[in-house]
Amino acid sequence: VVLFISVNQILLFLLVLTICVILYNKVHKVPSTLNNETSKYSEPRPEEMEEEIPVVICAAAGRMGAAVAAISSIYSNTDANVLFYIVGLKNTIPHIRKWIENSKLKEIKYKTVEFNPMVLKGKIRPDASRPELLQPLNFVRYYLPLLIHKHEKVIYLDDDVIVQGDIQELYDTKLAPGHAAAFSDDCDLPSTHEMVRSVGMQNTYMGYLDYRKQTIRDLGISPSTCSFNPGVIVANMTEWKHQRITKQLEKWMQRNVEENLYSSTLGGGVATSPMLIVFHGKYSTINPLWHVRHLGWSPDARYSEHFLQEAKLLHWNGRYKPWDYPSVHNDLWENWFIPDPSGKFKMIRPNS
Ligand SMILES: *[C@@H]1O[C@H](CO)[C@@H](O)[C@H](O)[C@H]1NC(C)=O
Ligand SMILES: *[C@@H]1O[C@H](CO)[C@@H](O)[C@H](O)[C@H]1NC(C)=O
Repeated sequence: VVLFISVNQILLFLLVLTICVILYNKVHKVPSTLNNETSKYSEPRPEEMEEEIPVVICAAAGRMGAAVAAISSIYSNTDANVLFYIVGLKNTIPHIRKWIENSKLKEIKYKTVEFNPMVLKGKIRPDASRPELLQPLNFVRYYLPLLIHKHEKVIYLDDDVIVQGDIQELYDTKLAPGHAAAFSDDCDLPSTHEMVRSVGMQNTYMGYLDYRKQTIRDLGISPSTCSFNPGVIVANMTEWKHQRITKQLEKWMQRNVEENLYSSTLGGGVATSPMLIVFHGKYSTINPLWHVRHLGWSPDARYSEHFLQEAKLLHWNGRYKPWDYPSVHNDLWENWFIPDPSGKFKMIRPNS
């Protein structure tokens, strides 16, 4: 019996020793990186060392499943510390909260932000051809610094996107000094070129601005200048505020109400034209694979599967949304969709 106890004690001793060695190694790693004059005095906790990535997405009534699929794709493809700012109108916020809290998305970090459409009063010209583009939430991107206070660098995404890459990469997009934002150029990718040609889409300023108007001609911007798509934005809030970008955008909305300056929403949005004017010649570019777009342009035009696999972000801009029918490549979208626990939002599929 005496022998038995001492063997047990030896085993216990060895176990304690092993734990001590493991602990020592763990603790020892930290000082080796902190052993630097500059970082000695601030020892951030691990979760604070990792920069928070703010991602702004709108959740609009009637298409809230879009925001849910986008968020779920981002969250599933990254280890980064993402904070979602989900922007809605007053009456939509409880719905999106319920959806998140009752699904696997309950693990995400998010804030809901209410957008007051009164800020747009008198700044939007009614457009009968595509009233959906006048959705107040389309203009949320103009007001980023008013919605987000804590962060300097921010990502804004349209709701009709799916992210297949690690969002950290998009966040790491470099903005040149003096640039308040980065966008994807509409002339960037050969595959996009083909798509643009095949569906007869505009990819220049001419598609967005009415060059018959003197006010537009006075801008001195060549009509053949390549446009950019503001559905994916990496923005610097310090620079945005410094250049008073929001005020400038509002001015160009206002002038459109007075003078009808923009072409009839050909390129996909009243929200685009003022941005093309305000950011002309002063924006940085986003890696084209981080904004593969026009998937919603036509129910027939398709990209090659190979190309889509390489894409980091897919954007169904255009009328043919992947939750609706007809639409293309909607399987890629459906992978990330999470059904609405309240049953209010439903995908439209043939025979459903
Ligand atoms: C100490 O930190 C500074 C600034 O972060 C860095 O440039 C330098 O290389 C570090 N030195 C060592 C020895 O790690
Ligand atoms: C944002 O802009 C400010 C002012 O130009 C600049 O000092 C800062 O480095 C920029 N930050 C990023 C992340 O680009």
